[in-house]
Amino acid sequence: KASPRIRKVFASLITHLHDFARENEITVDEWMAGVEMHYLRALSDDLKINEAGRMSDDRRNEGQLVCDILGLESLVDEITYKLATDAADEPTTTAILGPFWRKDAPRREMGETTVTGIENGDHTFMHGTVTDYLTGKPIEGAELDVWHTAPNGLYEQQDPDQVDMNLRGRFTTGKDGKYNFYCLRPTSYPIPDDGPAGKILQLLDRHPMRPAHIHFIVSAPGYKPIVTQIFDRRDKHITDDAVFAVKESLVVDFLPRKGDPKADFELPYNFKMATY
Ligand code: DHB
Ligand code: FE
Repeated sequence: KASPRIRKVFASLITHLHDFARENEITVDEWMAGVEMHYLRALSDDLKINEAGRMSDDRRNEGQLVCDILGLESLVDEITYKLATDAADEPTTTAILGPFWRKDAPRREMGETTVTGIENGDHTFMHGTVTDYLTGKPIEGAELDVWHTAPNGLYEQQDPDQVDMNLRGRFTTGKDGKYNFYCLRPTSYPIPDDGPAGKILQLLDRHPMRPAHIHFIVSAPGYKPIVTQIFDRRDKHITDDAVFAVKESLVVDFLPRKGDPKADFELPYNFKMATY
């Protein structure tokens, strides 16, 4: 038996889809082209809805990518977490999960690095405290699940040259709520654009670039998990992210680090959590 929520959401989805078709007078040929039958060539050779499904697997989340360049994941993030208003005295602002998170990233000790077998790259010491945003108290046992790309712009699952689970890690705060680890200063990079998402971007004269970012899921018992990303202020795509995820309070400055043979950059960042 369909739940009231499902009935309502689907009724609305259908209404809006029908309005969309009516408003644009979508023809059968255009529809067929959009679904699959590209020999009709009414819209475009490769703008095929089915292709997104065919391309999707554990390593490639093409359906989500298509939604993301249309701004859907970012909008839903905003709707869901509207309480986090990007203000300084609020919990850490959320941002989209994106298609590259993997569950069961390796647990790592504080001070370890996420990086294996990458020669180039700007090694960075990231550190900070996880606190309760209302009381300011440090949160013990908070888990930071971190993931980022290599200097070639690829996540580990996209890159046959990286070891499994490279550039990922789960770090747990101690009594003082503090964390620290080494990672790479990220670079801007194109989202995978050799499929339907890339084709849509092309059709709209849009670029596929995302500003350099590091992903986090911060979780702790009794607190609302925070799915977020931080962004490098100096990235030239900071104002035109292909998937619309940048928020001001998530833009950070990488600082030079002296006297540490393991890192040339330092990144202080604190996370603030809210209870349920
Ligand atoms: C998307 C998000 C990412 O973090 C990323 O690295 C690539 C793509 C996305 O939302 O589609
Ligand atoms: Fe990403």
